Amino acid sequence: MSTLSKAAKFAERTSHLRASTIREMLKVTQQPDVISFGGGLPAPELFPIDAIAECTREVMDEYGAQALQYSVTEGIPEMREWVARRLTMRFNRSIDADAVVMVNGSQQGLDLIGKIYLDPGDHVVLEHPSYLGAIQAFDAYQARYLTVETDEDGMIPASLERVLASADPFPKFVYLIPNFQNPTGRTLAAERREEIVRICERYDIAIVEDDPYGELRFEGDHLPSLSSYATTGTIVYLGTGSKVMAPGLRVAWVVCDDEDVREKLVLAKQGADLHSGSLSQYLFHRFVSRTAQFASHLSEIVATYRKRRDVMLESLAEHMPGIVSFNRPAGGMFLWATVRGIDTAELLKVSAEQKVVFVPGVSFYPTRDVHDGMRLNFSNSSEEKTRVGIERLAHALRQYANLA
Ligand SMILES: Cc1ncc(COP(=O)(O)O)c(C=O)c1O
Repeated sequence: MSTLSKAAKFAERTSHLRASTIREMLKVTQQPDVISFGGGLPAPELFPIDAIAECTREVMDEYGAQALQYSVTEGIPEMREWVARRLTMRFNRSIDADAVVMVNGSQQGLDLIGKIYLDPGDHVVLEHPSYLGAIQAFDAYQARYLTVETDEDGMIPASLERVLASADPFPKFVYLIPNFQNPTGRTLAAERREEIVRICERYDIAIVEDDPYGELRFEGDHLPSLSSYATTGTIVYLGTGSKVMAPGLRVAWVVCDDEDVREKLVLAKQGADLHSGSLSQYLFHRFVSRTAQFASHLSEIVATYRKRRDVMLESLAEHMPGIVSFNRPAGGMFLWATVRGIDTAELLKVSAEQKVVFVPGVSFYPTRDVHDGMRLNFSNSSEEKTRVGIERLAHALRQYANLA
């Protein structure tokens, strides 16, 4: 009788899965006295609980069984039309509801993109650093990564061009987060956006534009999405309701003009979950259809996060030693700090004992070779907690680095 070895019982691709530092760390942060700048959680006190309760009643009265029944893979028409209208305004060009596929969180969008594009060993082009959840999703398809240099203005077009010109095998797509990037909070400069679209058009490589934070702008004008530019190339855009309403609903969307891509996405999604939750989609739609209430809800989120960012910046400036430098993101939920000469994964061990945590930057580099970065989330802690947490973190750093 032949049997399989322990390793062979599972697919080879599972050996490429790495535990997410963030998810592991979230377990530690369940303790109430730990201040966490680690997770990427929205502020729960801003969830529109009463409105969602009312919307639930309204959806049940209006749709009843239909909201509880199996539905189509592409998503409920009401949501696809809403997304198309909103993006028509944001992209400043007409988006058709047919171009929209609803997904179960944009994280599922990333997984499906991996599923339809990646064979084992295929290359994906990423910003350096990039979103850990995307790396995890692509890891499952045994991707390899080519990294493009970034600066305070996001991906550097000349570096992208160099990477594409010398890549072998040629990569399948370029993944980037142009607005208030996770993890760095950086925004891709306006003048770089069209340049990147044109480079990708020339090399005939798809762009995956992940935009969960675009609506959370604290100051300045919204910049055009990469998807705003007319192109003969393919752009797959990802948007989500997680940061503007509630992540627990898992309402998100993939938008792409290319019918072939959509067809494959829909088939891949059918195999994964048949369709995203109908009730969540109806609820989300009902809430955003209360236009004035949704607009003021969004303004409240933006105002709250702006204030929290400011408090974090003030506290960093007040308490951190000179080896720490940090940026000032114009929106989103994260800022990025570098601690000269310090391995922040080691610092985390000391800071966790002092009951404050963050995500060490190394997690966001697929090459795992940059150790002095730190992602600080400011959306999930009150102003008071932020002040106390940053003071604790500065204390832990001084102790770890033997500074006075
Ligand atoms: C860049 C980026 N993409 C995707 C996601 C996943 O979001 P969703 O809740 O829509 O799955 C996140 C969540 O933090 C993110 O930061």
